Amino acid sequence: MSPADSPAGGAAAGDVPLAVELRGITKRFPGVVANGDIELRVRRGEVHAIVGENGAGKSTLMKTLYGEHRPDEGEILVDGRPVQFRSPADAIAAGIGMVHQHFMLADNFTVLENVILGSEPTKRGRLDRAGARRRIEEISERYNLGLRPDALVEDLGVGDRQRVEIAKVLYRDARILILDEPTAVLVPQEVDELFGNLAELKREGLTVIFISHKLDEVRRVADSITVIRRGTTVGTADPRTTTAKQLAELMVGAELPTPETRESTVRDTPVLQLVDVTVSDESRRPVVDDVTLTVREGEVVGIAGVEGNGQAELVDAIMGLRPLAAGSVLLGGEDVTAWSTRARREAGVGFIPEDRHRQGMLLDAPLWENRILGHQTRPPAVKGPLIDRRGARADTARIMREYDVRAPGPDTLAVALSGGNQQKLIVGREMSARPRLLVAAHPTRGVDVGAQSVIWELLKDARAEGLGIVLISADLDELIGLSDTLHVMLRGRLVATLDPRRVTPEELGGHMTGARSTAGAA
Ligand SMILES: Nc1ncnc2c1ncn2[C@@H]1O[C@H](COP(=O)(O)OP(=O)(O)OP(=O)(O)O)[C@@H](O)[C@H]1O
Ligand SMILES: [Mg+2]
Repeated sequence: MSPADSPAGGAAAGDVPLAVELRGITKRFPGVVANGDIELRVRRGEVHAIVGENGAGKSTLMKTLYGEHRPDEGEILVDGRPVQFRSPADAIAAGIGMVHQHFMLADNFTVLENVILGSEPTKRGRLDRAGARRRIEEISERYNLGLRPDALVEDLGVGDRQRVEIAKVLYRDARILILDEPTAVLVPQEVDELFGNLAELKREGLTVIFISHKLDEVRRVADSITVIRRGTTVGTADPRTTTAKQLAELMVGAELPTPETRESTVRDTPVLQLVDVTVSDESRRPVVDDVTLTVREGEVVGIAGVEGNGQAELVDAIMGLRPLAAGSVLLGGEDVTAWSTRARREAGVGFIPEDRHRQGMLLDAPLWENRILGHQTRPPAVKGPLIDRRGARADTARIMREYDVRAPGPDTLAVALSGGNQQKLIVGREMSARPRLLVAAHPTRGVDVGAQSVIWELLKDARAEGLGIVLISADLDELIGLSDTLHVMLRGRLVATLDPRRVTPEELGGHMTGARSTAGAA
């Protein structure tokens, strides 16, 4: 580790030319210095990781490099030449592409349409679909992205959406790829695949800038690391000689938490029962296939699975967001199969959705409105027949304190929060209603190591008081550490039930991909 060295005149670090150099970048938002005097030097052909706490300024810095923001101060050099981007179009023309922290695809379009959107190829003045298809297939093949050009994006899981985003960037001939927390949404096997793809990109001479909170994986994939704290560069680290612990300390000055929870708080009373639940897709294929499971008071039931094996549909079934083809859902012993989502929520079901931008938040609304979203019928949202703005604001301020949501105040717009801080607000909101069942899809996705341990503690405390939790997560340490019971979901079925006290992440991964026989599972 060395302190961020002063910029050494642009052209080279060692012998390798710099693909990107940022000098003294400052970007202010009203009341916030998101980036203050940041230095970044990325060598051509390397994978360069950027790490830092939630709200440290990583996404802002990348959006500045990508032409979405104009820096208030500082200089951007690409391939040694100073540039001034007025928009992402300028950045793309300079060979820079970005995959955002939350995806930006058009749901009701196909993969092919999404990839070409904004740079439609033409042949004699007409859209050249065949040509586009050939190029997409070639890109998919070369980087092993497994794209189906005619699939509708709304039918894709998060992992596939990400590959579409990457293809979209490659389609525009990017030489420098920015990936903002790409692995937050992936299970280990998919992370391996992505890292395989990154290796291909590197071989082809592309440069990758990679943001992540998972320090082990940063050390695995990165050639060099820049650490950002509270908007400014605090150092660069060599992944070969820096431990995850040292990195965490550099980031937050704290130790890495583990979710470890061993004393069981499981009681006998069931809060949720799924009985022979089947959910079908449009073509009547079962995507959740005859699932039976019980969550008792004080119990965390983890569902492990590779993205797209029915977990999302299972969550929808529990929440009443999708009709069942067969089976029933019971809450506290009562059959709620025919109940609306709202009725279920009012009966005490908390929900942390997988895709916070589509289901969990109104980005253009202030935080206090987001606080009452989905909870409009109860205090602090209402007082008598009226919306209680003051109560909602005060309670939002409380959540911000307890969950360490870093933002100026309850009137800040949600869109101005960093990704991890948005997530913390959603978790705080759902826990505030004191639910008896919490359906949590990736509750700490995108949250930094410090905040992650805070959320784990709060979930454990609520569990000890009798909360039942359905936990879906791509973070196997989280699943193993928090769950009392662990099911594996594969192609819509629960194929194994494992003891989280004994299973290792590797074994769990084997079950998830079906590589391991399900016999012998406890
Ligand atoms: N459009 C905006 N308007 C106002 N403030 C903003 C805006 N975008 C970001 N900020 C603020 O700038 C700071 C840095 O945010 P940024 O999104 O860059 O953090 P981050 O490092 O990417 O965090 P995370 O790991 O949570 O994604 C935060 O305080 C955030 O609230
Ligand atoms: Mg971010």
